[in-house]
Amino acid sequence: MGRKAIITGVSHWVPEQVLTNKDLEKMVDTTDEWITTRTGIKERRILGPGKGSSYMGVKAAQRLLKERGISAEELDLIIVATVTPDTMFPNNACRIQHELGAKNAWGFDLNAACSGFIFALSTASQFIESGKHNKVLVVGTDKMSAITDYTDRTTCVLFGDAAACVLLEPGEEEGYGVLDFVNYCDGSGKDYLYLLGGGSLYPASHETVDKKMHYLFQDGKTVFKAAVQMMADVSVEILERNRLTGKDIAYFIPHQANYRIIDAAARRMGVDSDKVVVNIDRYGNTTAATIPMGLSEIYHDGKLKKGDYIVMAAFGAGYTWGSALVRWAI
Ligand code: ACO
Repeated sequence: MGRKAIITGVSHWVPEQVLTNKDLEKMVDTTDEWITTRTGIKERRILGPGKGSSYMGVKAAQRLLKERGISAEELDLIIVATVTPDTMFPNNACRIQHELGAKNAWGFDLNAACSGFIFALSTASQFIESGKHNKVLVVGTDKMSAITDYTDRTTCVLFGDAAACVLLEPGEEEGYGVLDFVNYCDGSGKDYLYLLGGGSLYPASHETVDKKMHYLFQDGKTVFKAAVQMMADVSVEILERNRLTGKDIAYFIPHQANYRIIDAAARRMGVDSDKVVVNIDRYGNTTAATIPMGLSEIYHDGKLKKGDYIVMAAFGAGYTWGSALVRWAI
């Protein structure tokens, strides 16, 4: 077995402003009861105007560097998973690199919606395994409030703003770190979850704004059916191909889009509910941030111990979906 990437730091950051289900009851025709029973969400965080998703990514990264006790100049590479970069270009990786003062790092953004963190972690681990880099920062950050229509009850209750990140470094011991990943995409899902306006196909115009094409659209029912199936399939697949069962897993950290999707995947894997990391009640769906945020919470709560097997899994727009198997190394 060759050199593996281990996670040596993890951190998250959320804005202070809380938007509760009760607040949403005053904005659209919905109820706390509907949102809670259909999704598991009670409240979410909102960044507010004047700041973009890179701001949250910087905050999360600064905390990570401090806790790991290294300077930003030691970073080799920054990969940012996001669907809400501050601007079309320059990318968030450049913005975060500059704000951190990571002057020896290059970087790029990766767009895989809610699967963004899994795809970015998979990519980053290859830069460590190849021997090319020694310190790779993987950031998931999304300001979903910037692309959410707060007059559309079918989507505005679902999303929130947050950032989280991990640091990957080469491991000394065999059998630890990012052991495996399984990723998929299927572009036939493009018609069910999208943001059409402002790209090269539908450049921003009065018409795109009038038609609300700068907001995300989701056919919830269709996406739900695909998510329940695919997230469970890919979670079971990574267990089976590594000859593990749900009983071997210390924590399952699923993407937080809907509690019912999380529960279905955990049941298919045979993972007990106390091992399933859930924070959707407090943050809603924060797209690329949900999984590293879940990892950061259990890490800072002192729940992780060396040798723990962790499975992470996600499903999102594209469609994109994937899972990663990590053995905790610190
Ligand atoms: N409050 C009250 N009623 C509502 C609300 C609301 N906020 N939203 C929808 N409804 C109504 C609908 O209008 C519908 O009414 P009707 O029957 O009279 O037409 C009824 O509730 C049921 O609506 P459904 O869409 O069938 O509700 P469902 O149980 O499917 O839940 C949800 C909707 C929560 C969106 C669910 O479909 C879901 O979680 N989908 C998958 C989300 C996901 O995984 N996305 C991928 C990741 S996100 C990314 O990649 C960016």
